[in-house]
Amino acid sequence: MFRKLALSTAMALGLATGSAFAAGEGGHVEDFSFSFEGPFGAYDQMQLQRGLKVYTQVCTACHGLKFVPLRALSDEGGPHFTEDEVRAYAEQNFEVYDEELEDYRPALPTDHFPANTTAGAPDLSLMAKARAGFHGPYGTGLNQLFNGMGGAEYIASILTGYTGEEKVEAGTTFYENHAFSTGWIAMAPPLYGEDVDFDDGHPNSIEHEAQDVAAFLMWAAEPKMMARKTAGFTGVIFLVVLSVLLYLTNKRIWRPIKHKP
Ligand code: HEC
Repeated sequence: MFRKLALSTAMALGLATGSAFAAGEGGHVEDFSFSFEGPFGAYDQMQLQRGLKVYTQVCTACHGLKFVPLRALSDEGGPHFTEDEVRAYAEQNFEVYDEELEDYRPALPTDHFPANTTAGAPDLSLMAKARAGFHGPYGTGLNQLFNGMGGAEYIASILTGYTGEEKVEAGTTFYENHAFSTGWIAMAPPLYGEDVDFDDGHPNSIEHEAQDVAAFLMWAAEPKMMARKTAGFTGVIFLVVLSVLLYLTNKRIWRPIKHKP
């Protein structure tokens, strides 16, 4: 029995190793540290605001965020702009097609971020969650469990993972990237550092910009992360208290029987 088990384990490991090697040079995700990690972590409002700026000025050229409502930008726990700021931001940056007017008009807070399908780039609304798991040795997700590494780390790693090498295959240019699963991504390096200027004079090196936009995209994909953590924590406390009470009740109920004279 044991030998059989050991044999199948060894085979499974062997298979996993084989496929990891076949995947090539990609998949190196760096462990950046984000304010929202850990059981008490929360989004950094200023970082989300900077990330939005990077997203708006750089990423919208190719990507969309079609599932994210613009009004969410004023949510507490998120970028937390005032409603007037959101209205101005929407109006200045995006145009949407209005079916009633049968024409384009400036976006309103009630609209969503526009989709962008022209450049063959995926929508980023849920990307930070879609790529959250399965990093680490052999795609087991262990890094997420032990180091809290998830989608935000992945996105920041992609943005900083370019080597500068490129190749053309079947008419498409691919750029070598340590973090992308296959090692070659079809997205040209979007950030070089100093791509945007932050109002508060915050550093705008490529690492800073990459982490800011990654944090913003994490918020976009999971705006209620803080509420979820609080609920989880309350649940754990409740269960601990309940267990203690049940233990004491149990002792009390059995006392007359256990201590029979
Ligand atoms: C010039 C167009 C262009 C710009 C600008 C651009 N991207 Fe991309 N992006 C792409 C394309 C094309 C892909 C698909 C790449 C592939 O699948 O090989 C992609 C894919 C991605 C992916 C998904 C990788 C995966 O695992 O599938 C992420 C995340 C991403 N982009 C983030 C960003 C961020 C953040 C920015 C802004 C800083 C940005 N992109 C700017 C074109 C662009």
